[in-house]
Amino acid sequence: MKALVLAGGSGSRLRPITHTSAKQLVPVANKPVLFYGLESIAEAGIREVGVVVGDTAPEIQAAVGDGSAFGLQVTYLRQEAPLGLAHALLISRDYLGDDDFVMYLGDNFIVGGIKEIVDQFAAERRTSDVAARIMLTRVSDPRAFGVAELDEQGRVVRLEEKPSEPKSDLALVGVYLFSPAVHPFVERLKPSRRGELEITEAIQGMLDAGLPVHSTVISGYWKDTGNVTDMLEVNRLVLESLEPARHGEVTDSELIGRVRVEAGAAVHGCRIVGPVVIGSGSVLRDSYVGPFTSIDRDCRVTDSEIEYSIVLRGASISGVRRIESSLIGREVRITPAPSVPRAHRLVLGDHSQVQISG
Ligand code: G1P
Repeated sequence: MKALVLAGGSGSRLRPITHTSAKQLVPVANKPVLFYGLESIAEAGIREVGVVVGDTAPEIQAAVGDGSAFGLQVTYLRQEAPLGLAHALLISRDYLGDDDFVMYLGDNFIVGGIKEIVDQFAAERRTSDVAARIMLTRVSDPRAFGVAELDEQGRVVRLEEKPSEPKSDLALVGVYLFSPAVHPFVERLKPSRRGELEITEAIQGMLDAGLPVHSTVISGYWKDTGNVTDMLEVNRLVLESLEPARHGEVTDSELIGRVRVEAGAAVHGCRIVGPVVIGSGSVLRDSYVGPFTSIDRDCRVTDSEIEYSIVLRGASISGVRRIESSLIGREVRITPAPSVPRAHRLVLGDHSQVQISG
């Protein structure tokens, strides 16, 4: 079995962070979302992975390389324009050949990985004529997803992409298992209302042709929705099973619970209540860091308080209390205002969002 990982797209829903970074590289617990996907593909025993890239190709390639760090052999497949998930499949036709494959959207996060479902599909392919297996999860607003309608036996009867009146709350998760039977259905697709070739419609085509499409309902799923709340939530989830360690320098500090200080990080005169991860090259001084905070590489936190937040590479926070539920981008500077005049001075990039208290 091969894997096809989709890592193109513009990430408009995660602006401003995605103005400067591919959405698949936004870190959760200091690790790009995409890496969790690649790790779970490797864990499922798959070696050959095609990574579909678009405008952010150089950045993705720099991060993933030849895949050997993950135990994978990665081939990059260039998608000239983001014309839909099924279009990505179309341009990967030669690479995929006649193999079964798992298609994995690089901005999706599946708690617990995909080994079980990959094994299940491989086993049922040996004994039946199953053509595809989709993953579903219950969501509060199905209108933002592909939505599945099941019959009383739990069989998939119909799929609809982003319906205004959803028939169920079962959304298509961005991991699909396919036999080569999918290809002809992809080849005959026409662009949808949003101008994309929809994988949801290709699977509906398979259903219409009477091909067996099975489904698995999972819990523990996350996808970016442009909603920082969701990102913070998945960060919390991952940090809950963080491996505590003190590889860096820690002096005059109190570290409580799961705290991971990476090699090359330094913590002086701080109180840190885990789970918290502190990336290498970061220096924390005279500060409080509260639960569910990820501080990436090369950050500075001085005389400040922060909790339940994600701080990206190279950001610096000094003399500020207290920051909560925040996503702070790369190289951002946060400092206190002088006491006179009492004013907020802001230099914010396009699409930034700020909440000011008091
Ligand atoms: C795509 C699919 C949708 C699926 C979702 C999962 O949506 O079209 O059916 O539910 O991925 O992440 P998009 O990310 O293109 O909005």
